Amino acid sequence: MRIGRAELYCGDAYELLPALGRFDALVTDPPYDFKATGGGEFRKVRGGMDQIVAEGLDCGFDIKIIDPLQFSSVIVFAHNDQLHRLLPHLAGMFRRYAVCIWRKSNPMPVANRHYQPDLEFYVHAWLEGFHPDGAMVEKRRSWDGKAAPRKDFNHPTVKPLDLMRKIIVNTAGNSVCDPFMGTGTTGVAAIEKGRRFVGIEHNPRHFETACRRIEAAA
Ligand SMILES: C[S@@+](CC[C@H](N)C(=O)[O-])C[C@H]1O[C@@H](n2cnc3c(N)ncnc32)[C@H](O)[C@@H]1O
Repeated sequence: MRIGRAELYCGDAYELLPALGRFDALVTDPPYDFKATGGGEFRKVRGGMDQIVAEGLDCGFDIKIIDPLQFSSVIVFAHNDQLHRLLPHLAGMFRRYAVCIWRKSNPMPVANRHYQPDLEFYVHAWLEGFHPDGAMVEKRRSWDGKAAPRKDFNHPTVKPLDLMRKIIVNTAGNSVCDPFMGTGTTGVAAIEKGRRFVGIEHNPRHFETACRRIEAAA
């Protein structure tokens, strides 16, 4: 589906991506790879976690899609437990990388022997000439804010639009691709900034939400 400067595909990212050509930036929040069991006494109030498991958003993604032959820069969200695989991959292929954090003021409650999930990580990696591009204030490596309520779009891991706006401003170039676009938050931020956007989502319900949001932004 084409909406203004956005091209949106409902389908499998691994099948569709190879035919889509080259982009200035991959900006994506793929399924995390982590242990979604537990939660203790708080599990019953963590409906979001049950939806995460039901939709396979705890099963990770194939890191090989992050390919500098297709993307000149990459911003990818990752769970704490994925960083040890992601960072060597990025360091080996890109000129530099920076680990950035979103400090979440409303993390899901936990009652186990781990830290609270109040930090989310994203890593920005770039080739020569595609370094972070925003104004000084946009180049802070931390951002504070609340997670969007699940009920807004019936999706358990929607990223805050203001965070995605800050991220898009820091990507050099014009074209942005999000092959795991969910409800389309990356696309909304990209279109608002006048970028060309290509998004892929395999869940038809989330795809429809993304189309609706991106159409409103366009
Ligand atoms: C973490 S969510 C992204 C949420 C998004 N950042 C937002 O703000 O709405 C990851 C999304 O990737 C989708 N997904 C998972 N595997 C996929 C695949 N192979 N192809 C396309 N989409 C996929 C899931 O359905 C999910 O909506």
